Amino acid sequence: MTINRTNITALSDKELKDLITSDKYDSRLFALSDSLRREYYGTEVFIRGLIEFTNICKNNCLYCGLRCDNTSLSRYRLSQNDILSACDEGYALGFRTFVLQGGEDTFCTDEYICRIVYAIKTRFPDCAVTLSIGEKSRKSYAAYLSAGATRYLLRHETADYAHYSRLHPASLSLENRKKCLFNLKELGFQTGAGFMVGSPYQTSENIVSDFRFLQELSPDMIGIGPFIPHSETPFAAFPQGSLSLTLRLLALLRIFFPYALIPATTALGTIHPEGREMGLRAGANVLMPNLSPPSVRRLYSLYDNKICTGEEAAECIACLKSRVDSVGYKIVANIGDVRRHNN
Ligand code: SAM
Ligand code: SF4
Ligand code: FES
Repeated sequence: MTINRTNITALSDKELKDLITSDKYDSRLFALSDSLRREYYGTEVFIRGLIEFTNICKNNCLYCGLRCDNTSLSRYRLSQNDILSACDEGYALGFRTFVLQGGEDTFCTDEYICRIVYAIKTRFPDCAVTLSIGEKSRKSYAAYLSAGATRYLLRHETADYAHYSRLHPASLSLENRKKCLFNLKELGFQTGAGFMVGSPYQTSENIVSDFRFLQELSPDMIGIGPFIPHSETPFAAFPQGSLSLTLRLLALLRIFFPYALIPATTALGTIHPEGREMGLRAGANVLMPNLSPPSVRRLYSLYDNKICTGEEAAECIACLKSRVDSVGYKIVANIGDVRRHNN
């Protein structure tokens, strides 16, 4: 097969599945992916300051260490002052996007979230605020938008109904997850979807469904990272997702969605010391270092052995700059909006 974008985006489900499961084309896929990211984004790598503001969650996703049944975890919620201090530190380090991520914490009402978003936008009018706080009503999303949030990350996790029900309790449904994503898009958020690579019971057919769902949604951001087991979850004994498959999928995502903002995730950096650099070379163009106070980082424990839980924000950004330089890209201090067209 000639590896070019036209051929790849025209593949049937069976052909795409074969491509996903073979390493035969890897070097050509990576070359094509890199040329597309350069067409749309040059060598720029955008940074997003991640503030993990609450590890309290009412949900019980089987893969996640924050699930409500994990009683061995100490829970925390940052105050508005803590969040603004993290933004102050991030702004001085060059961050122009702040991502507020957390569990589905019922204490955080819409009013509470809107107050924090508004306070950040008032103090940093030149910055974007991204939310990643799970499934909410359309009305809640509209309120967040009015308060000044313009981006929302909500991974769909898997686009296969049977697989979704093996990863989640019966109270959560793929139908609602998808509805949330379409609501976010319709309201005008820059919207992010995505999935874990190698989550328990995932098949290559499931991954083909993920690509087809992403084609239907056409999200601005696409986050994928390897599943990593957490010792206090029902999936403690499952193996972690594969590095090589994650890299191949990053390349394929760049080829299918050349305009997309695609992070090289912390999970990728956790399964390999140079995972994030490899992710950038495969097609990723975003990094999301942690701006949370070091005192709580260890407690945002989605999976075991998470990196950067002992470092300060300034240490991580210096570390990342040299890592990004080492692979020939450069971190830029701008808001980093999606570029739907190459120019
Ligand atoms: N609660 C919100 C939600 O679920 O959308 C946002 C926070 S949640 C912790 C963010 C993402 O972490 C999830 O979308 C999931 O893909 C990822 N995650 C959770 N557990 C994980 C694990 N064991 N390995 C890798 N990623 C995981
Ligand atoms: Fe809660 Fe999100 Fe973890 Fe599910 S993935 S348990 S919703 S924090
Ligand atoms: Fe956090 Fe390297 S990025 S220590």
